[in-house]
Amino acid sequence: MTANGKGMIIGAAAMLLLLALFALIVILTGAYNVAATDRHNPIVAWAFDTTYHNSVQGRADDLESPQFTSGMIEAGAGEYKAMCAHCHGGVGVSPAGWAEVMQPHPPALARAAEKWTDEEVFWLVKHGVKMSGMPAFGPTHDDDTIWNIAAFVKEMPQLSAEEYAAIGSGGHGGEGGHSH
Ligand code: HEC
Repeated sequence: MTANGKGMIIGAAAMLLLLALFALIVILTGAYNVAATDRHNPIVAWAFDTTYHNSVQGRADDLESPQFTSGMIEAGAGEYKAMCAHCHGGVGVSPAGWAEVMQPHPPALARAAEKWTDEEVFWLVKHGVKMSGMPAFGPTHDDDTIWNIAAFVKEMPQLSAEEYAAIGSGGHGGEGGHSH
């Protein structure tokens, strides 16, 4: 190896060591502000967001969504209104005030659902999202229930406020025993 090549390797190693040291100092001193009222630094926001999307995409790849039926959408609507709407809102329905100030902010699924596939919505609901406040419903709900919820979430962007208000109110409301 040339002297130049060796120099580059030593330089790169020193750089990595410095970066690790910097990260450790930030972690140990609490320099990074975790307040929900403080916006993320753009680099941290990019790192979280990219990790989040790629992680969900990769893991949902193995799933195969069933064909959604109107019965599934109807059943999912009741679950959604009981367990999700206070954080994510509905069509023409705002989330609870406390959810509006969460960081990350629970996206309005009436719009955001379009950018996720059926399988990704299922995966997100089943497993939740670490360090974000998005709960995992898998431990307490079976896959059929979660596919119903996914069916409704994917339907929501097409609904008017009137349709949203009317759907799922036919006595499906949640699993019983949910007191949100
Ligand atoms: C306590 C509040 C809370 C509840 C309850 C909740 N979520 Fe979430 N959800 C979040 C937050 C916060 C995020 C954003 C995660 C992130 O950006 O890292 C999220 C993200 C999502 C996403 C991905 C959206 C996107 O574009 O990032 C989907 C889909 C989702 N939730 C569906 C649901 C469904 C369906 C339910 C009900 C079964 C539900 N959530 C219940 C807080 C909640």
